[in-house]
Amino acid sequence: MSVKCSIFALLMIDTGISATEVKAPASQGKQFYIESYGCAMNFSDSEIIGSILSENGYSITQDEFSADLILLNTCAIRENAEKTIRDRLKHLRNNKRKNSDLIIGVLGCMAERLKTKLLEEEKLVDIVAGPDAYRDLPKLVEEVVDGQRAINVLLSREETYAEISPLRLNTNGVSAFISIMRGCDNMCSFCVVPFTRGRERSRDPESIVKEARQLSEAGYKEITLLGQNVDSYLWFGGGPKVEFKKATDEQKDNAVGFAKLLEMVALVDPNMRIRFSTSHPKDIGDDVLFTIKKYDNICKYIHLPAQSGNTRVLEVMNRTYTREWYLDKVKRIREIIPECGISCDIIAGFCSETEEEHQDTLSMMKESRFDFSYMYKYSERPGTPAHKKMTDDVPEEVKSRRLSEIIALQKELSLANNSAYIGKVVRVLTDSVSKKSEDDLSGRNDQNTKVVFPKGNHKIGDFVEVLVERVTPTTLIGKAIN
Ligand code: SAH
Ligand code: SF4
Ligand code: F3S
Repeated sequence: MSVKCSIFALLMIDTGISATEVKAPASQGKQFYIESYGCAMNFSDSEIIGSILSENGYSITQDEFSADLILLNTCAIRENAEKTIRDRLKHLRNNKRKNSDLIIGVLGCMAERLKTKLLEEEKLVDIVAGPDAYRDLPKLVEEVVDGQRAINVLLSREETYAEISPLRLNTNGVSAFISIMRGCDNMCSFCVVPFTRGRERSRDPESIVKEARQLSEAGYKEITLLGQNVDSYLWFGGGPKVEFKKATDEQKDNAVGFAKLLEMVALVDPNMRIRFSTSHPKDIGDDVLFTIKKYDNICKYIHLPAQSGNTRVLEVMNRTYTREWYLDKVKRIREIIPECGISCDIIAGFCSETEEEHQDTLSMMKESRFDFSYMYKYSERPGTPAHKKMTDDVPEEVKSRRLSEIIALQKELSLANNSAYIGKVVRVLTDSVSKKSEDDLSGRNDQNTKVVFPKGNHKIGDFVEVLVERVTPTTLIGKAIN
């Protein structure tokens, strides 16, 4: 910190400002507090933000009341996600009342979606910064200290924060995320992400491998590679993927796709588990499946959102695959990797969905036998193609009923899948103490199902062989045998 200040002072003198005019940077001795909402990409971004602020003299605090700067890294995926942030901002009025110098920043997808509107609507917000503007945060804070409200919501076609070494937040020292790409080019009609995160661009594979190596050296046991559509990862020298067609022959020859990247990361440390999320049914290919099969340390688990089981609904969602295509993918996964866990995302009550079409979703779920699913009621998002061109016409009570049918079916499928583990031994990476009992440890098997067992001499971060004795729809319960 002190070193930074003196360098800062020297720079100011060099530019001709006299020493007496030298002002300490706004960051001097200041603490920031950050909360993350939404998907894993946002949690990963918060670690990049943490790193940028630390490099600029801020230190992190877990106590919101001692913070000089409170940051909310927000999500905009459904209306409820934004409501949570509005409610949180109301609470932060108390913090501001206690400390009038407190700076409040709203970052991430809701900031990007609402832009200046957020400053107009939420008077206590000082900073609004979108997902590609985090390098600018120290400057935005300076602007607030100088008496202005500050905003940067520019989306970039290149930014991947590739060389920034994330500041690991709330870490258990066992599992970590690595962002491998940013943005999304898919334009599913219901989805706000292409608008909040911009064009798809992939990160330099060397920087990804370097980060994986650092995590391995720091003792991490599991990494998850993150992107909105990881199967579409393509590195050919930088810039958005849409420009691949303009790449030189040499760039094309040396391009790295997701299967290759997965292999490069798997080879970093055979004792470190590799996961990835999210896969898109249109893009996941045999090359990726064979790579998963080939390496013991790549988890046999794929999150493969379907969204609907009806071809017409999939078409109006602009998912670019049919029910049959999706079911064939599931079949292919099970052919190549029979033990693979598969999970799904499903939306209930999308615009114009009929009762029969909803039944198709239920039958698709039965056929696919998902281990678990993330299930949502459709929530219309302003500015999306569905909002512009379609009507949110499924009544709220119908959406709720369809969602509960989907949830009930998933519960049955999960219980059936989990029951098949009874009497079998699973390899678990323990990541926490069980929420229900301090005497039990909790972790996940290769297929990403939660496993709980009495801790004995084991500790968080251990790989443990667990004999499964009983199950619930969400958890395998058993005892350690090693
Ligand atoms: N990139 C990922 C998903 C990111 S968003 C993918 O393509 O699978 C996570 C999930 O939120 C989506 O899979 C979808 O099921 C859900 N979702 C997105 N927009 C939604 C909306 N407007 N209403 C309800 N759920 C939505
Ligand atoms: Fe949204 Fe579709 Fe992109 Fe996923 S693939 S982030 S659902 S637009
Ligand atoms: Fe939400 Fe943005 Fe992720 S909208 S789901 S935080 S990409």
